[in-house]
Amino acid sequence: MKALIPAAGLGTRFLPATKCTPKELLPVLDKPVIQYVVEEALEPEGVDGVVIINSHEKPQIESYFSVDHAFETMLRERGKKEEAARVHAASTLPVSFVYQDEARGLGHAVLQGADEIDGEPFFVLLGDYFVPGRQMCVRMAEVSKAHGGASVIAVAPVPEDQVSRYGIIAGECVGALPGTDAQGEQEGAVWKVTGLVEKPSPEDAPSHLFIVGRYLLSPRIMELLATQGPGAGNEIQLTDAMERLLDEEEMYALVVDPSEGCDTGTPAAWAATNARMALDDPSQLEAFLEALGEKGERFVG
Ligand code: G1P
Repeated sequence: MKALIPAAGLGTRFLPATKCTPKELLPVLDKPVIQYVVEEALEPEGVDGVVIINSHEKPQIESYFSVDHAFETMLRERGKKEEAARVHAASTLPVSFVYQDEARGLGHAVLQGADEIDGEPFFVLLGDYFVPGRQMCVRMAEVSKAHGGASVIAVAPVPEDQVSRYGIIAGECVGALPGTDAQGEQEGAVWKVTGLVEKPSPEDAPSHLFIVGRYLLSPRIMELLATQGPGAGNEIQLTDAMERLLDEEEMYALVVDPSEGCDTGTPAAWAATNARMALDDPSQLEAFLEALGEKGERFVG
């Protein structure tokens, strides 16, 4: 199975930094954000290949995942063997590229990967969020398997005043991940999806469960996307094509705990993710607290 990662966006929330650096290559500690997303997809028993949907305006992303023998040799000659190995490791990941050169929305981006999925179900991982070491794809595949190979999306509770930022589902809780007895909006609960609305007003939101940006989709969605007209924000919305898919196929939602993941979608969330990762990383913790100095003492309470 393949995972698609849309990465053609302009990164306007991070301007001016993203004038020259794609937001996908902003670092969390010493690794670009998109590498965490790729590694999440490739966790054991996850997918066997990742397709990044890029824009030709951002060739740096493809360069990052390509081998650069001259650069690696230069590092080794300077005694930086470990650094050279880490640089090389990124170029060995099973990543390929397709291009979306018009910003016409998430649905249009996903459609650019139609020839890459070999007519099989596939994952979509949005790049503003990553969940290290929690086998997100495997958990979603388990739910799909338990329901005859149906499409599965990850969802999480959101306060009512924020529903208009996201895709929101309608449905009912029908069970839980094997080994848990979660119910309702608890982590591990499984819902049967009966409707989807992209960025509804609070009055129109059918629930408080939002799509967090992890999808396991039936290949039929590609045919529906090919004829999907513009929706919210005048963009071709993946959510709208999924709503049409519901007329033909079942779809389920797995409730996840959004705090298990790391958000990098805004400068504040990205900064918090860097701090969290430094606090969680024994090799960085001490230096991080020292660098924060007195302010850090206040910060860690
Ligand atoms: C996209 C999806 C939306 C989802 C969100 C998660 O919206 O269209 O359904 O809830 O990602 O981040 P965007 O953030 O691109 O506006």
